Amino acid sequence: MPDFPELRLRRLRKNSAIRSLVRETTVDSGDFVFPLFIVEGKGVKKDIETMPGIYHFSADKLGKEIDELVRLKIPAVLLFGVVNVKDEFGSGGYHPGGVVQQAIRAIKKAAPGMLVITDICLCEYTSHGHCGVIENGDVDNDKTLPLLAKMALSHAEAGADMLAPSDMMDGRVKAIRQALDGNGFNSMPILAYAAKYASAFYGPFREAARSAPQFGNRKSYQMDPPNVREALREIGQDIKEGADIVMVKPALAYLDVIRRVRETFNHPLAAYNVSGEYAMVKAAAARGWVDEKRIVPEILTSIKRAGADIIITYHAKEAAGWLAEQV
Ligand code: PBG
Repeated sequence: MPDFPELRLRRLRKNSAIRSLVRETTVDSGDFVFPLFIVEGKGVKKDIETMPGIYHFSADKLGKEIDELVRLKIPAVLLFGVVNVKDEFGSGGYHPGGVVQQAIRAIKKAAPGMLVITDICLCEYTSHGHCGVIENGDVDNDKTLPLLAKMALSHAEAGADMLAPSDMMDGRVKAIRQALDGNGFNSMPILAYAAKYASAFYGPFREAARSAPQFGNRKSYQMDPPNVREALREIGQDIKEGADIVMVKPALAYLDVIRRVRETFNHPLAAYNVSGEYAMVKAAAARGWVDEKRIVPEILTSIKRAGADIIITYHAKEAAGWLAEQV
């Protein structure tokens, strides 16, 4: 093995052509899933204050946005519903005429090739803002499962291509898999938010989805941030229950978790570059403190380098262009 001065690592960084040849990780728009927030009503496209560049759309206004995603070669969207009327059991989530169900139909009509993934969780639809049914002041795991299964089935019936449970109840993947298989949807894939942490990085999303818990917090069901071995158990459990793709969420403060999951399991792995991660970049960029066009590709590359195959990101549309400019 040569040593300096024969060895010079800078030789392979000399110009963009060489750098391109030896680049170990690449990201492109085909890796992205773009989240969309669907509201009630007609003709709505409204800024979300905590997430500049991201909007609330009514189902009828999605056409242009979907066309743009197709043009940018972003293969998939992830749908969240934002509703005005909520109840204790989140019944807006499994209503056949619900906002997400309407949006699924609208998107599949506008662009049949666009992969429509839907978030399966009750928090956007419950009056108390928790991800399941409340019993004695806490979320009751087993009472929540049938409602999640009902919601999953309702999205499947509306034409969704993939379902993404984000509630963190034990046994939800199994409950959803059984409901799907029992109703003719045995080819519907499940993307499980398998290792989802109780994170402050969801703050801007909760404003956008109006889904903040009205009492307490989500620590009795979402994971404790210091734990990584537990993440491997969560992922292993969701795989055993039938998850086709697993997810680590958030991404950036959890790159080590992504790496460990990649090294331990062979399932496709998604990472969610969440709202707080997005908002921090946007806030700093707006002040001119960071160069957004460079920092975003660097961030997305780090998620891929850590081991993710799929990146769910609010940066998807802008990043699609910026990545192409990188040399
Ligand atoms: C629903 C859900 C949340 C996010 C995705 N699905 C919020 C939460 O758990 O409170 C967060 C996404 C983001 O912050 O971008 N349970």
